[in-house]
Amino acid sequence: MNKEEFGKYLSRMYQDGMLMLSVGLGHDLGLFKVICEALKPISVEEVAKTLNLKERYTQEWLSTMVAAGIILQDRDSNLYTVPEDYKQTIMSKMAFAPILFTLGKRSDKVKECFKKDGPYGISFRDEEAADCFDWFDGYRSLVCEGAIDKEIIPLLTQQGVVHKLESGIKVLDVGCGSGNFINLLAERFPKSSFTGLDYSEFGIEKANKVRVEKELSNISFTTGDAHNLPDEWTESFDFVFVYDVLHDLSDPHKALDQIYKVLKKDGCLSLKDFGFHSNPVDNAGNKCAAMHYTVSCFICLQSSLSAPPHIGYGTCWGRENLEKALIDAQFNIKEKLSTTVSGSKACYLCTK
Ligand SMILES: C[S@@+](CC[C@H](N)C(=O)[O-])C[C@H]1O[C@@H](n2cnc3c(N)ncnc32)[C@H](O)[C@@H]1O
Repeated sequence: MNKEEFGKYLSRMYQDGMLMLSVGLGHDLGLFKVICEALKPISVEEVAKTLNLKERYTQEWLSTMVAAGIILQDRDSNLYTVPEDYKQTIMSKMAFAPILFTLGKRSDKVKECFKKDGPYGISFRDEEAADCFDWFDGYRSLVCEGAIDKEIIPLLTQQGVVHKLESGIKVLDVGCGSGNFINLLAERFPKSSFTGLDYSEFGIEKANKVRVEKELSNISFTTGDAHNLPDEWTESFDFVFVYDVLHDLSDPHKALDQIYKVLKKDGCLSLKDFGFHSNPVDNAGNKCAAMHYTVSCFICLQSSLSAPPHIGYGTCWGRENLEKALIDAQFNIKEKLSTTVSGSKACYLCTK
């Protein structure tokens, strides 16, 4: 990239970054939903009235989306529409954007954590994390079903785990968060019994709420620490899954040893984490990795550094380190799957 191209590259970055704030507003205020669900082109008055919003702000937001090429405006009628085949993509992709508000709210504390004499980090149990769970739950509720079908079930099928889940086995979800995966899996496999563990009350509370709403009798949730799983659980689970958690832990190696402990001898571990490269130089030019390093500074690295021994691997500790950690913990990696073009996701199925 020459100097001029580099300048344009940075300008585009500002434009896209700023625009995502409007996307976040559109998601949170329900604007995208109204436009995507409209059966015919819709006016600013109709959009504003449906959501009980002020017309002027609604107009400004619509103009933003038209300028960005996300929503179409008819010059003669001034009506707004979205191409039919974009609707689903808009609804699922836009759900990530409100993370910007969550990150913004904790930015002062994050800056303090950077300082030599500042706090170690922000844990998922701290007050600041409540907001994170609100965003995460909303996002997860839109993407988990797809992740189960595209990333998780294909690996489980290959090792016969799906068949076992259908027959009825004991399952543990370590770091279940707001329970989005476990609640869906428990619904799909009613003969199996599921335990969800997370050390944050914020997550467990949301998870339990959905469990009650869906009347799922095959799940129980508990607060606990992945680094210290109860001794009475030793060799008692047939299947353990850990999705997007390991990099958040203050000591992933200790947690893997604990997971090894609670798995039955013929049990399986399903692990999903981020699949970037462990050496940052190998992620050079990967914008998706850059975005996840950002999330790391605000959320994941914060969590991982918040408690002793403050290992602090962060979101992008990478597939090479992750695979080494699994092998060091004596797991046998039976299957692996890397998804998305940028290699952002890595899924593993391991045996003891
Ligand atoms: C990114 S969320 C993932 C949640 C869930 N697995 C999912 O994929 O939707 C990470 C979760 O790890 C939990 N966590 C962090 N440290 C933990 C620990 N030491 N023990 C148990 N859970 C922990 C957090 O509270 C948070 O719910």
